[in-house]
Amino acid sequence: MALIVVCSAKRSPGVTVSALALTLTWRRRIILAECDPAGGDIAAGFLREIPLADRGLARLGAALRRGRLAEDLWNQLVDLTPGKGTAMTRLVLPGLTEPAQARTWAERDDLREPTGWEQLAQLFRSLESGHSGYDVIADCGRLAVGYPPMPVLAAADVVLLVLRPDLPSIRASAVALPPLHRSVTGPIGLMLVGAGPYGPNECASQLHAPVIAVVPNDPGAAAVLSGGGEHYRGRLLRAAAHAEAAVLRLVATGRAARDGTTSQAVSSGQTNRVAEAREVRNAS
Ligand SMILES: Nc1ncnc2c1ncn2[C@@H]1O[C@H](COP(=O)(O)OP(=O)(O)O)[C@@H](O)[C@H]1O
Ligand SMILES: [Mg+2]
Repeated sequence: MALIVVCSAKRSPGVTVSALALTLTWRRRIILAECDPAGGDIAAGFLREIPLADRGLARLGAALRRGRLAEDLWNQLVDLTPGKGTAMTRLVLPGLTEPAQARTWAERDDLREPTGWEQLAQLFRSLESGHSGYDVIADCGRLAVGYPPMPVLAAADVVLLVLRPDLPSIRASAVALPPLHRSVTGPIGLMLVGAGPYGPNECASQLHAPVIAVVPNDPGAAAVLSGGGEHYRGRLLRAAAHAEAAVLRLVATGRAARDGTTSQAVSSGQTNRVAEAREVRNAS
């Protein structure tokens, strides 16, 4: 299983909507964790009709202080699984309720202790282990804000940088990418949202990174994913479903590079993933 970070350099290109679209169409067990240090949007947006009783990363801050992060995580998740008994469990960890809370996760009282973001990154990595583990999609928001969850990015199998294919977004991404490359170990892919003057090939060559997904401009579906509602089908969701295979290929490529395995091992890993996905589909 895999830890996938979705983030942007600047502005608001559609990180949260794209992360939700990936989550709602993902074909394996998945946890969407809102780790945006500027605060979460899902509780007041997509989940606004669901009584959350303050569940989320903000409440998990208390567990962090008590050293009970792993135990309390499960009480803070919102279950979006479509039907009972399905193997494709979909869980959401709503984000911080105000940006000031990010400091709790980024700083530490004792220099020998890991920070909250470091502990959360470790916890996400442990969730993905094993055959029945969870993939984790972490919405890390904009990188150009205070207290960014860099340890979560550093631990990710893949970082997806979301941008609009226009000059301001490409410029901001070009500035963000070199330090990002120095901070992360996994590969970085681009996720383009909406139409713009630049095509995927131009974005890839300007930013020296592969385009992993192209998400169409779909104001109807985006409005539901941002503001709530039941009917979120359409082009945006189809594109997200289509992106899963490319994201998992990048995960496999990154792992092969990290482990120094041969290309043969990669393709057999992909075969296992396909078999695993089929198993999950059959079980649901
Ligand atoms: N694929 C899309 N098509 C149309 N509008 C979108 C799309 N993705 C996002 N949006 C809109 O863009 C705005 C910002 O989206 P959001 O996901 O909150 O951005 P971010 O998380 O990067 O700040 C919202 O109004 C959202 O509805
Ligand atoms: Mg967001």
